[in-house]
Amino acid sequence: MPADMPILAADGLHKRFGALVVLDGVSLAIARGEALGIVGPNGAGKTTLLSVLSGAQRADAGAIRFAGNDVTALAAPARCRRGLVRTHQIPQPFAGMTVFENAFVAAGQSGRPRGECYDRAVDALRLCGMLGIANRTADTLGLLDRKRLELARALATGPSLLLLDEIGGGLTDAEAGELVEVIRELLRRDISIVWIEHIVHVLLQVARRLICMDAGRIIADGEPKAVLANADVVAAYLGGVAA
Ligand SMILES: Nc1ncnc2c1ncn2[C@@H]1O[C@H](COP(=O)(O)OP(=O)(O)O)[C@@H](O)[C@H]1O
Ligand SMILES: [Mg+2]
Repeated sequence: MPADMPILAADGLHKRFGALVVLDGVSLAIARGEALGIVGPNGAGKTTLLSVLSGAQRADAGAIRFAGNDVTALAAPARCRRGLVRTHQIPQPFAGMTVFENAFVAAGQSGRPRGECYDRAVDALRLCGMLGIANRTADTLGLLDRKRLELARALATGPSLLLLDEIGGGLTDAEAGELVEVIRELLRRDISIVWIEHIVHVLLQVARRLICMDAGRIIADGEPKAVLANADVVAAYLGGVAA
């Protein structure tokens, strides 16, 4: 595929739950190697957008192309095998399994050979600072480590585009700094990133482009500082969280 082709292109995504319109015509293109941040008030449809992009939920209308192919009809496991993976806002590890087993099972979803899955699981845990607790069962982990494991599990699948849903919430400044370093390493490895995050100053350490969603639509898209200064964004989002 040509180098300038977007790694992901979504066109006219619509999603409703009953009478509630949650995605109201979302179109966006993500460039290869891009670090895109997404902000917006609670209920804007951010998580649903990630679910629809990753294949966890089917859009009611619209199309999604990934790495040059139409993946609209593919379920999440098939998109994962192609390198399109998301994390969950509420971490969902296998509680009775160890940290290592969780990463290894996730790596297995890539469909790669067992030995390669082992190496990928170890690499993902090392990157997320979890090798030292690889033998603990997931249900003994605190929130920070559950979030780390959620990221490690997604990484272990070997993504080329990683969709992150609020993995920085509740972290101290030092912990957020470590997370930023992990994300920077992923970008150096040519993994494209979409990151939903409320902690804007952390997000801006890696995002080169920012989208703001409100009521199922993209209301601003561009250079982060310009988006944050946009009057619609201030009214819909920043007005509610400032001061
Ligand atoms: N499975 C679902 N069934 C019904 N309503 C849902 C479902 N998932 C999300 N919603 C609703 O859709 C809206 C958007 O939710 P969500 O995508 O989680 O927004 P955000 O991540 O921006 O906070 C909210 O009003 C939420 O309550
Ligand atoms: Mg959400």
